[in-house]
Amino acid sequence: MKDNRILIFDTTLRDGEQCPGASMNLREKLEVARQLARLKVDIIEAGFPVISDGDFESVQTIAREIKGPVICGLARCVGKDIDAAGNALKPAGKRGRIHVFLATSKIHREFKLGKAQHEIIRLAVDGVKRAKSFVNDVEFSPEDGSRTEPDFLVEVCKAVVAAGATTVNVPDTVGWAVPDQYGALIKHLYESVPEFQNGKAIISVHCHNDLGLAVANSLSAVRNGARQVECTVNGIGERAGNAALEEISMAIKTRPDFFQGMSIGVDTREIVKSSRLVSRMSGLVVQRSKAIVGENAFAHSSGIHQDGILKKRETYEIMDPREVGWLQTELPLTKHSGRAALSVRLKHLGFKMNEQEVQGIFARFKEIGDKKKFVYDDDLTALVEGQITEVPEVWSLDYLSVTSGSQSIPTATVRLRRTAVKDAEPITDASIGDGPVDAALKAIDRITETRGKLMDYALRAVSEGKDALGEVTIKANFGDGELVTGKGTSTDVIEASARAYLNAVNRFLGNGHAPRKKRPQP
Ligand code: KIV
Ligand code: ZN
Repeated sequence: MKDNRILIFDTTLRDGEQCPGASMNLREKLEVARQLARLKVDIIEAGFPVISDGDFESVQTIAREIKGPVICGLARCVGKDIDAAGNALKPAGKRGRIHVFLATSKIHREFKLGKAQHEIIRLAVDGVKRAKSFVNDVEFSPEDGSRTEPDFLVEVCKAVVAAGATTVNVPDTVGWAVPDQYGALIKHLYESVPEFQNGKAIISVHCHNDLGLAVANSLSAVRNGARQVECTVNGIGERAGNAALEEISMAIKTRPDFFQGMSIGVDTREIVKSSRLVSRMSGLVVQRSKAIVGENAFAHSSGIHQDGILKKRETYEIMDPREVGWLQTELPLTKHSGRAALSVRLKHLGFKMNEQEVQGIFARFKEIGDKKKFVYDDDLTALVEGQITEVPEVWSLDYLSVTSGSQSIPTATVRLRRTAVKDAEPITDASIGDGPVDAALKAIDRITETRGKLMDYALRAVSEGKDALGEVTIKANFGDGELVTGKGTSTDVIEASARAYLNAVNRFLGNGHAPRKKRPQP
């Protein structure tokens, strides 16, 4: 095998976003795409344009704004899907890729599609040809590839490559594969299709984590001829998720002895920043013990380990934390820092902001600077990301007062403003609750005439110290079964909770949902 460069195909914005409750709006997706470009992934799968106007617009915007990586759009082997992808990708010019897929396994052919093998091949070839009329760079995925009869899969690969596909991706759609068997399948394909050997086309892999084997399967495939790995930041994705980008990248980088000179183009120092951004934008919290990007990934608590590390780092540490972007702290800003210093620091943190946006952040920065001695990079990042995740406000928080204690019934008084209505009088209401957060959220429900069921609530300190900003992420169900994410930040955790809930209410109402007809009873 001559070419040892492994392409990293990031599908955080497509497969990752399919994770329940992880959906992002356009600004959030654009910010993630900007960071993926800084991370230097080779391909960004930006979405599935036919799915909705929103998906079309985000693929189109990412294709227009993001320079560097190839921008890809997903499509079934269906005319209208392929046309939508082709049109959305136009602004990317030669950097546009259409990814068409069609199920090939026996169970999908018989029970889902009701099609014979020869019909599947015809549809796949037609899909690739139609995609070719828009772009040169076409990828084909035989969905449920890992459970497809290997010899039929060879036939499919040969047919789509002859039709013009330059990448054939073999998805382990249901996370069924195990490393040796999946590696053997990739080897079989590599040895059976001449174009995979002469470099006219490459094999890609796309593994789901239902058995916790997505990364192991992907790496086994790489050892057996795959030259592209599809993955997501933090491994987010449908069900148990996809192969984690950070784990794939660091395994190949840390073990050159095993991966025989293979290389990746990812700038690994951007990994931690990418992980945090995706976590904030998707509302999916990263577990502390998660490899590479979890808070504990490089924390050694046992005395024996600490002693060894002090004597020689490599005794217990296989990677340098700085290599993935940990420990890149700068001197914190204070309330005395000016707008120019803030602007320089924001640029250094990778945020592209115009004067007006910097001015907005500066006002919030001063408020926080008055409450806290130091404003850390993490505080600034939370502020900027808070601004990005803001949705057009239907309601805004004007006032909040809470009483609670071991001997009193928690009570909250809330005043909200109807932002969109000019000169509207603010509305005040109060509620008791099981705790101060419950009381505040119930008072918001009474005013906004919504009733959200809290499905998830996470509170974390943005930076160190007792005066740290608290960031609350919630997921709420407003009765239609969909999970709506909300985020809020404040030095007061009750206020952060109320802001997070109001953010979710605004997101829900902004999606065109009407408030409940009846005011909820206290
Ligand atoms: O898991 C899967 O099969 C997919 C395809 C669309 C590539 O996501
Ligand atoms: Zn998938």
